Amino acid sequence: MLISNTNQWHNLQNHFNIMQNIKIKHLFDEDKERFSKYSLQYNNILFDYSKNIINNSTMELLINLAEEANLKYKIEQMFSGEKINTTECRAVLHTALRTQDIKPIFIDNENIITNINEVLSQMENFVELIHSGKHLGATGKKITDIINIGIGGSDLGPSMVCQALKYYKVDNINSYFVSNVDGTDIIDVCKKINPETSLFIIASKTFTTQETMANALFSKKWLIDKLGNIDISKHFIALSTNIEECKKFGIDEKNIFAFWNWVGGRYSLWSAIGLSIALSIGMNNFRELLRGGYQMDQHFRNTEFKNNIPVIMALLGIWYNNFFKYNTYAVIPYCQYLRRFPAFLQQMDMESNGKHITKDNQLVDYLTGPVIWGEAGTNAQHSFFQLIHQGTQIVPADFISFIHNLEDDGEQHKILLSNFFAQTEALMKGKTEEEVKNELTSEEEINRLLPHKIFDGNRPTNTILIDKLTPTTLGMLIAMYEHKVFVQGAIWNINQFDQWGVELGKQLAKNILYELSSNITTIITHDSSTNGLINHYKNYKLC
Ligand code: F6P
Repeated sequence: MLISNTNQWHNLQNHFNIMQNIKIKHLFDEDKERFSKYSLQYNNILFDYSKNIINNSTMELLINLAEEANLKYKIEQMFSGEKINTTECRAVLHTALRTQDIKPIFIDNENIITNINEVLSQMENFVELIHSGKHLGATGKKITDIINIGIGGSDLGPSMVCQALKYYKVDNINSYFVSNVDGTDIIDVCKKINPETSLFIIASKTFTTQETMANALFSKKWLIDKLGNIDISKHFIALSTNIEECKKFGIDEKNIFAFWNWVGGRYSLWSAIGLSIALSIGMNNFRELLRGGYQMDQHFRNTEFKNNIPVIMALLGIWYNNFFKYNTYAVIPYCQYLRRFPAFLQQMDMESNGKHITKDNQLVDYLTGPVIWGEAGTNAQHSFFQLIHQGTQIVPADFISFIHNLEDDGEQHKILLSNFFAQTEALMKGKTEEEVKNELTSEEEINRLLPHKIFDGNRPTNTILIDKLTPTTLGMLIAMYEHKVFVQGAIWNINQFDQWGVELGKQLAKNILYELSSNITTIITHDSSTNGLINHYKNYKLC
């Protein structure tokens, strides 16, 4: 049965009919305890969800919905390694990658905890070899430039984390990330690095992804062109589940870091895919990141729903997406180091929950994953915040920041935080006609400006305020969003762990690539637009 046909869903629909006319600021006026009622703390993360269009009944009904969807059972299925990725018949165990527990987890009669620990030791040894200068390039020079070549989950996670944890970077290692098949990406990086001191990490779960393989082959050729016929295995390592293809590429078997098909690409930064992170911030810090993820797993797995941060975040998302029909969701980190976090979340959330068929093969009649977007504050205030404040679409948003700043905990950080606190207040309160009139000084001004300066307010936000950006707190934050996305997909009853939707474009691109290089002058195999575009390209290319 579709979740939209349950009593719990109908109860929420009825409740929405009442709540849609409620103003959050009036809820604050009525209840002085609202902040403490609707905020949660876990370790050094404060999650304030009081600036939402909710009351006790809303939360009760949402939790009933989670129970109706059998959420507790589904969480246990994931953690215990059941094959919940039903279309690909795979378990989903990124949580095992960061477990601090030695209890075995068996997949197809194999204890994966042993395998995970083996790869972690292999990573640890390798990081030591690079940092100590024992692994040298083919010409005997120390490795100082690390270039991760990957795309999607094999790029966004590690690049976001390396950017976020820049403060913890070890000396004498520079990290670069190449993802786009647009040749300017790899060429730009090649201009900055020295071939003798460079290590290319080919990060690809499948080791067949077109963009990654094109960039990998380009860098191999570039290295040979620069250094002559050298032993490339000193400069190339691989992170993959496809060991055979890595070997064919010329990678030394001992420098292939394995992971497994039960690690989804967008959840893979905790696996060998995190090697670029470990090289950048050191293995101890990488282990702290894992520990943070594990701490959030413990909270998520063992806390009752009403006090469970990822569960509450997910339920609020469903409240807005499915009942208010607010279909986009912004994430605004007030932290320059976290500026890639929204891009990382886009893949995690939209590739996971961008589905329209339930696990029982039914077409959904409700909205699933929202559009996720965002940018670092305060920059975002000077670009798209106008629309959030006064546009015709309501955009619920998460605001994330840190009590302590890593580089400068003085006046500038206070300015940053004052904006952080002010924006959610402004979004919630708005500005009334009365308030605007009081500000304007003449009748003429009132006639000209009054309606433009009124803000309706009532824009819902969550505030996530964390002690300090560390590997541990970042690990917690990432895992918190992973679990939020999991809960939503579990309630919508969709498979969050496949991504068939990205395949069609890939197949078509293969045929078109052939046509672009072929001698056929006029392509007629597509619709008139696609034919027209390809032929236009071919004609101009020949000129
Ligand atoms: O095309 C989508 C996708 O499969 C993502 O899910 C994945 O993270 C990305 O491509 C890269 O895949 P791979 O790690 O196999 O190169």
